[in-house]
Amino acid sequence: MIKKYIFGQPLETGAVTQTIAACSQPLDLMQLSHTEEGVRLSCQMEPLDAVYGLGEQVRGINKRGFSYVSYATDDPFHTESRHALYSAHNFLILSRTSGDSFGIFIDDPGIVVFDVGETQMERLVIQAGKDCVIYTVEGNSLKDIVKQFRELVGRSYIAPKWAFGYQQSRWGYACAEDIRKVVQGYHGKNIPLDAVYMDIDYMEQFKDFTVDAEKFPDFADFVEEMRVQGIHLVPIIDAGVKIEEGYSVYEEGVQGDYFCKGEDETDFTGAVWPGRSHFPDVLNAGARAWFGGKYRVLIEQGIDGFWNDMNEPAIFYSEKNLKKVMDEIHSLKDQNLGLHEFYHMKGLVDGLSNSEEDYKSFYHNMDGVKIRHDRVHNLYGYHMTKAASEAFDQIAPDQRILLFSRSSYIGMHRYGGIWTGDNASWWSHLLLSIQQMPSLNMCGILYTGSDIGGFGGDATEDLLMRWLEFGIFTPLMRNHAAAGTREQEIYQFGHTEDFRNIIRIRYGLLPYLYSEFMKCALNNEMYFRPLAFDYPADTHAAQVEDQLMVGGSIMIAPVYRQNATGRYVYLPQDMLMVRMKSLEDRTCKVMEQGHHYVDIALNEVVIFVKKNHMLPVAVLDEDVKNISGVVAGRYEWIGFAEDAAEYVLYEDDGVSKKYTPQENWKKIVMTREELGMAVC
Ligand code: GLC
Repeated sequence: MIKKYIFGQPLETGAVTQTIAACSQPLDLMQLSHTEEGVRLSCQMEPLDAVYGLGEQVRGINKRGFSYVSYATDDPFHTESRHALYSAHNFLILSRTSGDSFGIFIDDPGIVVFDVGETQMERLVIQAGKDCVIYTVEGNSLKDIVKQFRELVGRSYIAPKWAFGYQQSRWGYACAEDIRKVVQGYHGKNIPLDAVYMDIDYMEQFKDFTVDAEKFPDFADFVEEMRVQGIHLVPIIDAGVKIEEGYSVYEEGVQGDYFCKGEDETDFTGAVWPGRSHFPDVLNAGARAWFGGKYRVLIEQGIDGFWNDMNEPAIFYSEKNLKKVMDEIHSLKDQNLGLHEFYHMKGLVDGLSNSEEDYKSFYHNMDGVKIRHDRVHNLYGYHMTKAASEAFDQIAPDQRILLFSRSSYIGMHRYGGIWTGDNASWWSHLLLSIQQMPSLNMCGILYTGSDIGGFGGDATEDLLMRWLEFGIFTPLMRNHAAAGTREQEIYQFGHTEDFRNIIRIRYGLLPYLYSEFMKCALNNEMYFRPLAFDYPADTHAAQVEDQLMVGGSIMIAPVYRQNATGRYVYLPQDMLMVRMKSLEDRTCKVMEQGHHYVDIALNEVVIFVKKNHMLPVAVLDEDVKNISGVVAGRYEWIGFAEDAAEYVLYEDDGVSKKYTPQENWKKIVMTREELGMAVC
C-alpha cells in the first residue's frame, strides 16, 4: 500500500509515473515535525532493525550508523567519512524486527539528509525541504515493498544486449590508433570484448559533439572498422559546453536561450574541462530537446552508446568566485603565512570547485518558472540523460541505445543506467561496489556497475582479477581507469590465461545474467538482493554484508581482501557450490545450510546454486570474440534438484524494444538425472 503526502508547493520531478491521490490523513509511520529547514521525520529503531536503500552511497548494505546526504557531488574520494556521492536516491526501507517494515521515498530534488542513527544510535531522522512529496510504502515483505515502489516509479532502463559484454575504457585513449591497439590487445590474446570507450580525449578541445579530425580522421569509417570487428565505440558527453565563437553548439545554445542563467539573466559561466563553459538548461523542455538532438551527429556516424558525465553538474570554478579567490590570494603575497592564514588560503582554492555558492547563483527556466539551481540540484544529471533518451526515441525509436550517467535521481532509472563514478584501486572499493549494487537496484537502477579495477590509483593484478570475478555479475562490466594510472587492460598483466578464463565465464553465464536482468526489469524486481530479502526469517542472513543473491537461482560470495585465498561463506539453505577455473573446468559440490570456510583461489569463480534451481551456461567456441558468440539455445545447464529444477528463460533479439512477445519466455524443467548428466 502506497500513501502520498504533499508538503508546501513541490516541483514536479517526474520521479513517479503512477497517479495516486494525496492522502488526507496525516503521515503516521514516522513522527512528523516542521523545522526551519522544512519537513522532518523521525522514528525509533530497535537494536536489530536494519535500514536498506539510498542507492549510490558510501558504507554497507545496512545503512545504520551514519548519515547520508542527497546532494549530487563530484568528489572522487569515496571514503567512509563522505556523506554524498554523485547521485540522490531518496528511497529507503526500515526493516523492523518487531512491527511492520516500511519504505519511504522523499521526492525532493534539493538537499535531503538521512541521519540513520548517527546522531542518536536508535533514531532514524530524515530532514527534507519545505516543498516535497513523501511516499510511504507498506507491504508484506521487503521484496514486496521494493516491487510496489518500483511500480510507482516506472520500468527500469533496458540496455542493448551487447552492453552486457565485457567493455574496456581508459581516460587517455587519445586517437584511433590507441583504440586499435586495445582491440588488438584483446583479440591477440583471444579475450572477448564488446566495447571500447572514448573518453574526453576524442573531442576537439573537449567540445561536446565534436570529434578531433586529426586524432580520428574519417570517424564514421573508424566506427565501421570497429563494428566489423565486433566492437562498439562509446563516447563520453559532458554537461558543460565550451564558450567559443564559431562552435556551433555554443552559438545555437546562446541564440536559442538554452543555457542556465545567472542572476543578471546572462548565460551562467562555470569552468569544466574546456575552461569557461555554459550549462544547457536541461530542466527546460526546449533546451532538453535541443541538447538531446545533438547526439544525432554521433549516431549518424554509427555510434550506438553514450556515457553522460560531469552532470552533477561539476563546476571547477565560476568566474565570479575565481576572481574573488585570486584577489584574496594576491593580497597574501609576500606575507608570512602561519597556520590559520595558510590553511585559509588552501581552503580558498579547494573550495572553488562544486561550491554551494555557485549552485545558488544560477537559474533554470522550468517551463516558464524561474528556479534557483540549488533547489533542483539533484535533477541535473537525470534531465541531461532524459534529454538524450527522449532524442533517441525520435532518432531510433525501435533501437536500444546504451546510455548511462554519472549523476542521477530516482526517475532517471527509466532513461539510462549509472556507473558509480571515480572509485579507486582499493580493496575497500571492491567491497563498496558489492554493497552498492542491491541499494541501487532497490531504487530502480539495474544497468549499473563500478569502474572495474578502480579508476584512481594503480590497480594490482590480484585486485583486478578479484574485481573481475565480481564484475562478471554486474550488468555493466567495464574496466576503466584514470589518466596517469597504471594501464589496466587485462592483457597488460602476466596471468592472461586466468583473466581470459574469467571473461569467458562472464560470456558463458550471459544467457542466465541477461535473462535475469530482463525479468527483473520487466517485473520491477531486484537483480542483486541482500540475503535478508530472500531469507527474512533467518537472523544470520540479515548479518551478511558481503554476499548477494543474483537473479533467482544463485548466490555469490566474492573475495574482496588482499592475499585472501578463501573466505567464510554463509549458506542460508542447502546449495550446490559450483567452482569454475574456466567455463569448461567446473566442479560441483552440494553444501549444507550454515557457515563454511571456502577456499577460492585467485583464478577461480565460485557460485552457489539454490536447491531446485538451475541456470543455463552457454557453450562457447574457443575463439569467441564478443556477444555474438553466445548463441541462443547452445546451452548446458547447471542445477541442483531434489527431484527436478525449473527455470524461466527469457531471450530476445537484444536490440529492439519488443520485450513482451510470448515466445521470449520459456519454462524449462529438468530432472535430477538430466541435470546430473549434463554437468556434475
Ligand atoms: C570524470 C569521470 C571519469 C572520466 C573523467 C575524464 O572524472 O568520472 O570516468 O574518465 O572524468 O573524462
